[in-house]
Amino acid sequence: MKLIIKANPEEASRYAFEKIQEAMGSGAKVLGLATGSTPVKLYRIMRESDIDFSGMTSINLDEYMGLSEDSPHSYHHFMHEQLFDAKPFKKNYLLDGMADEKEECAQFEEIIAANPIDVQILGIGTNGHIGFNEPGTAFDSRTQKVALWQSTIDSNKRYFADEKDVPRFAYSMGIQTILSAKKIILMAFGKEKASAIKAALEGPITEELPASVLQTHKDVTVILDEEAAQMLS
Ligand code: F6R
Repeated sequence: MKLIIKANPEEASRYAFEKIQEAMGSGAKVLGLATGSTPVKLYRIMRESDIDFSGMTSINLDEYMGLSEDSPHSYHHFMHEQLFDAKPFKKNYLLDGMADEKEECAQFEEIIAANPIDVQILGIGTNGHIGFNEPGTAFDSRTQKVALWQSTIDSNKRYFADEKDVPRFAYSMGIQTILSAKKIILMAFGKEKASAIKAALEGPITEELPASVLQTHKDVTVILDEEAAQMLS
């Protein structure tokens, strides 16, 4: 694992952007993307850049179940607002939260097999989740329906009018799906991520801390701000 600690999220996001640019310069064609607050600065930097993404394909990690694409809370909506409307890609693949579970997840795996992910951007949950793979998810999991933990619901309720409106289930790439990416960039900012980061980077590799599996991947760059790095030894 390569560990990069920057003074703040802005500098960390600039570094992540440079890594994406470098990968694109070396032929990367497929970006795996995340939602949530962590990549928002990165997406702003991508939007404001003069880089052309029209030859690129994107594949998103996850989507809430039961929300249609045009719901303002869907990750489809988030990605269009944050990136795709300003920077058209050749193709954007996102899971359809309204589609049949079996068919949708199998089809998504086929899409990833046909478009191997060159660079996967990840955030991390305070409980160590990656994608929506909560603690206890099997390391050999592929894209599937997942139940969100109450802590995940609580941290995502800021985007909804009421906690009750936060979907309880999602479709998510599995751990094995994520590990199939050639290169992984994990970003984490803020002190509330410090303990998950310490466990992921320095703790045992265990399904109880999904991000710890990244220790087994051969090309992972972890980009932190100082607050997220504060518990590392
Ligand atoms: C989002 C995702 C999640 C988030 C994680 C951190 O697509 O897969 O794993 O990356 O929950 O969320 P934020 O960035 O909001 O702290």
